[in-house]
Amino acid sequence: MAKVLIAPSLLSADFSRLRDEVLDVERAGADWLHIDVMDGHFVPNLTIGPLVAAAVKPHTNLPLDCHLMVTEPEKWIEEFARAGASVITVHVEASVHLDRLLRRIRELGCKAGISLNPATPLSSIEEVLGIVDLVLVMSVNPGFGGQKFIEAALEKVSRLAEIRKESGGKFLIEVDGGVSAANSAKLVAAGADVLVAGSAVFGNSDRAKAIADLRK
Ligand code: DX5
Ligand code: ZN
Repeated sequence: MAKVLIAPSLLSADFSRLRDEVLDVERAGADWLHIDVMDGHFVPNLTIGPLVAAAVKPHTNLPLDCHLMVTEPEKWIEEFARAGASVITVHVEASVHLDRLLRRIRELGCKAGISLNPATPLSSIEEVLGIVDLVLVMSVNPGFGGQKFIEAALEKVSRLAEIRKESGGKFLIEVDGGVSAANSAKLVAAGADVLVAGSAVFGNSDRAKAIADLRK
């Protein structure tokens, strides 16, 4: 089995020292850099946009994993592609023309991700599983870092891994929200390939240890 990828979420970094924080987690062994984009509409918080992704890009070799928690994501994908995103993930709850949107993300040269909130069933993404590179299972209600992991997400990951196996799908399974060393092994056993971790990595002064603990 391939090793699990760890994607520290920039949301929990010290924003006054963004470049140093990125360099620090890269040195500490991170695989991807997760960028949480919030618009104050889709979620009750406002964070960062493509300008910040573009500012960070020249300073890191880590793939930028852009998680768009915004309404009308179609308005933003081109800017994120231009900013250097490797993965652009949109929410199933945020788009009416999901098929077109996901195909467009791929046309832009990025990996296309689809995410679903804790209350959204897996059946809502069934029809697009053949055109996505990644499925992001939310294990908290999106909007903030540092929330408690919702246990039902573990079972959702297992069911998704089962669907992938049965259909011969190739997409990665990513989990986001409340991920820590206390649940990472169970998530990987259930089928997760990528773990997003905000507070578990940036909240620890020893980032290398924090990342190593998530891989155990
Ligand atoms: C939540 C974000 C997450 C969040 C994760 O809306 O999508 O990426 O920053 O932070 P932790 O790991 O602290 O739950
Ligand atoms: Zn996220």
